[in-house]
Amino acid sequence: MDISIKTPEEIEKMRAAGRLAASVLEMIGEYVKPGVTTEELDDICHKYITDHGAYPAPLNYHGFPKSICTSVNHCVCHGIPGPKKLKDGDIMNIDVTVKLDGYHGDTSKMFVVGKPSILSERLIRVTQESLYEAIKMIKPGVRLGDFAEVIQKHAESHGYSIVREYCGHGIGAVFHEDPQIVHYGTAGTGEELKAGMCFTIEPMVNAGKRHTKLMKDGWTVLTKDRSLSAQWEHTLLVTDDGVEVLTLRAEEQDQLSRVISNS
Ligand code: MF3
Ligand code: CO
Ligand code: CO
Repeated sequence: MDISIKTPEEIEKMRAAGRLAASVLEMIGEYVKPGVTTEELDDICHKYITDHGAYPAPLNYHGFPKSICTSVNHCVCHGIPGPKKLKDGDIMNIDVTVKLDGYHGDTSKMFVVGKPSILSERLIRVTQESLYEAIKMIKPGVRLGDFAEVIQKHAESHGYSIVREYCGHGIGAVFHEDPQIVHYGTAGTGEELKAGMCFTIEPMVNAGKRHTKLMKDGWTVLTKDRSLSAQWEHTLLVTDDGVEVLTLRAEEQDQLSRVISNS
């Protein structure tokens, strides 16, 4: 496997792309409410991204028809924005990838429409905790299996399951590059991290069984048992002594700076 190490110039571009991707998720929150369609959310994000001099990387990616992914309720990932209206109690992942000045920033967040149920809130929280637990471990010398195991154990200890068919990835000038970042596994296995690597962690956690089903549109991934699914994603840079969250949002600053500096 050939994992690229970014140059200082590339890292600056990754920072800019990451910041823009994060700002899309910050911007779109106020529009997520009952009655809005995911297509309308897609339009708003598309305009914001292109107005900022970037390209929405999902658009036309292997034929994907829209600019963001909107994955609602039992949709695991790659939901296609469409004319269906969001309703009170829906949960939704919005996944944004921008290409700015040749480099990608990739990040996703869970939104709740109106008032969430206790059960969906818990799924969303545990999934985010599993991402944060992994992020706080990242530094040179750590192996991919070390944090994959932590993600899996955290989700499974709450009775949830980890999706195996889709994973995180190296990222840079190429949207999806080596290595594959799976969210289950065994400590002490897998490639070692080195300073200058950039990759995403993006666990998909199902309330029921881990199995998925691909819809006939060739994109939409659902839980096979129709249980709810949640996902959170950040783009990360391995630094000399830890990690930089390139897609950090303001709302996370406290939470994640504490998480990272406590380690
Ligand atoms: N953003 C997704 C990821 O995290 C990939 C979406 S590809 C698309 O890797 F074509 F479905 F948009
Ligand atoms: Co993504
Ligand atoms: Co990704």
